[in-house]
Amino acid sequence: MSKVRIEAIKPNIGGIVHVSKEDLFDDETAAAVREALEDRGVLVFPRMNLTDAEQLAFSDKIGKRGNYNKKAPGSNAGGEADVYAVTLDKQVNNHPEYVLGTFFWHIDGVTIDQPLPKATMLTARKLAPVGGQTEFASTYAAYEHLPEEEKKAIASLKVIHKVEAALRPVFDEATEEDLARWRGQSETMVHPLVWTHKSGRKSLIIGTQADSVADVPVPHGRSLLVRLQEWAAQPEFSYRHYWQEGDMVIWDNCGCMHRVIPYDENSGRRMHRTTIAGDERVAGSCPLKSLQR
Ligand SMILES: [Fe+2]
Repeated sequence: MSKVRIEAIKPNIGGIVHVSKEDLFDDETAAAVREALEDRGVLVFPRMNLTDAEQLAFSDKIGKRGNYNKKAPGSNAGGEADVYAVTLDKQVNNHPEYVLGTFFWHIDGVTIDQPLPKATMLTARKLAPVGGQTEFASTYAAYEHLPEEEKKAIASLKVIHKVEAALRPVFDEATEEDLARWRGQSETMVHPLVWTHKSGRKSLIIGTQADSVADVPVPHGRSLLVRLQEWAAQPEFSYRHYWQEGDMVIWDNCGCMHRVIPYDENSGRRMHRTTIAGDERVAGSCPLKSLQR
C-alpha cells in the first residue's frame, strides 16, 4: 500500500496529503507531492508539526532551496538559515509593509528578475484568534475556463509589474526613503499576461503587483486586471485554508495566487516559510528597463 494518499479538496484546486511524519521524507512521498503540486495547486498536510530543520529538509526533498528574503526582518527565524518568519509582530518585523501587502492577491517574486519561485511552504506556528486564513486561487484553472474569445483577446498582452503597485493599497502615501528602499529590492518587470509553461499549460500572471497593461490605456488595462483577478478568485478556482497549529501547506507559486485574510498585528500570528527556487523563466518576461534602453 502506498505511504501517501492525496485527496482532492475541490475539482480545480486543493489537496489534502495523508502521510505519516516518518514517511514524509521518503522519495516516494516527495515524488507524489511534486507531481500533485501543479495539478492541485495547493497541498495541505494537516497537523504535521514540523520543526524548522524538518521543514527545510522536506523543502530540500521537493526542490532547490531558495531564499528571497535574506535581508528582510524575520529571516532566519529561530536561528535556522533560509526560514522566514511571516509575522506583523513589531519585535520581529520592523518593516511590516511587506507582510501587509500579502492581504492582497499576489504571486511571490514577480518583481524580481529571475525565475518565479516554484513553490512556497508554510507551517503555522501561532494562529491569530481572528483572521489569518490563507486563500489560494488557481491561475491555471482561471485561464483554462475563460471563454475562447477572451483567451484570444488577451493572448499577446504584456503586463507591467512593480512594487509600488503592491504598496498602493498598503499606504496612502509612501515616503521617498521607503520608495527608494523598495525599489532597491525589486525590479519593474514586464510579464506576458498569459504564461505558456514548458509543459504547454497556460496560466495567468496577475495580482497586486500588476500595475498596467502595456500599450493599453491605464483605466482599460487596470479594469481588465481587476476582472481577471475576480475571475480567478471565484470559489470554483480558489480555496481558503482555515489553519490549525502545526499545519503545513505547500503551493505552486507558478500556478496560484495567494493572500491572507487580515489579522491583528498584536495577535502573535507567526508562520514559518521556506521557498523552493524556480527552474523555469517565464517565456517572454524581461525587466522594463531593458526595453527602454
Ligand atoms: Fe506571498
